[in-house]
Amino acid sequence: MKKIGILTGGGDCPGLNPVIRAVVRKCFLEGYEITGIKNGWNGLIDGDSVKLDLLSVSGILPKGGTILGTSRTNPYKKEGGLEKVKENFKKLGLDALIAVGGEDTLGVASKLIKDGIPNIIGVPKTIDNDLSATDYTFGFDTALNTATECIDKLHTTAESHHRIIVVEVMGRHAGWIATEAGIAGGADIILIPELPIDIEEICALLRRRHQRGKTFSIVVVAEGAQFKEGSFVLQERRLDEFGHVRLGGIGEALAAQIEKITGYETRVSVLGHIQRGGTPTAFDRVLGTRFGVKAVELAKDKKFGRMVALAGNKVIDVRLEEAVGTLKTVDMELYEIAKVFFG
Ligand code: F6P
Repeated sequence: MKKIGILTGGGDCPGLNPVIRAVVRKCFLEGYEITGIKNGWNGLIDGDSVKLDLLSVSGILPKGGTILGTSRTNPYKKEGGLEKVKENFKKLGLDALIAVGGEDTLGVASKLIKDGIPNIIGVPKTIDNDLSATDYTFGFDTALNTATECIDKLHTTAESHHRIIVVEVMGRHAGWIATEAGIAGGADIILIPELPIDIEEICALLRRRHQRGKTFSIVVVAEGAQFKEGSFVLQERRLDEFGHVRLGGIGEALAAQIEKITGYETRVSVLGHIQRGGTPTAFDRVLGTRFGVKAVELAKDKKFGRMVALAGNKVIDVRLEEAVGTLKTVDMELYEIAKVFFG
């Protein structure tokens, strides 16, 4: 092991910089060279890289985003993409690659392993917390705390104006942010992609709450939630290179229905990318740091095709394929706890 590459792909999230810093620091101790690949898989297609040293990662621990840049590039959807990735991997003289990403980035990593680049190690990230084989991904805790703080703020204004406020949070396939921020922020209803929205049931819950004397309510909805009889609410129908549409707008649609059925004034707040930005929480800094150090240890031991993961409080490694096969959706036992506080 002489030279390791690192890339960050997919949606950014707080905690990526702590991983990069940890990888560089650990590589320095081991005497390995470290190359940063710019903008996810795009950097390996274009051969866009930067040499990383102690100075390049100095001071980045508390910063959100990623100093390497990111993109939603899928080499399998680019003309000659796979060949270019292989060519540049060779040209850069990489002995191993650490790919930091979610289902899409790690899905590509998993395919590349079969297609001639076996020396890859995965590090799981996503604010959605929906990757299997790890209890937590870094980025989630920061997003959760941001969303909770926003719900707290929306509570006081909803209460003063006697309104219902619908808070739309991120969560494409899984409602982890909605469920946990909803519990932490005392939401009166939480709607997630895992369960269809029954508008009549929601309005009945809201009416019951208002008949009890409450004059305001907070409804948290994940962007990927759908009406019982409907489909996703979209901002953009066009698919990205991983086949995803751009979600957003369920909050508006829901608020209109609630106001129409109940007659209560209903407003919407879409938290959007606020949840992905900002300084990582201590939890995400520590998790990112642990993942980064472990990833270099795996490279040292030539444990390729593996992904670092959190199991309880231990950082372990699992088969990369395990993580990208199926998504980790919300634990229904947790959702049942949230439901105790509905209405
Ligand atoms: O994957 C994380 C995520 O934040 C999802 O919750 C959301 O649907 C998506 O990324 C938005 O991605 P983009 O910023 O590329 O539109």
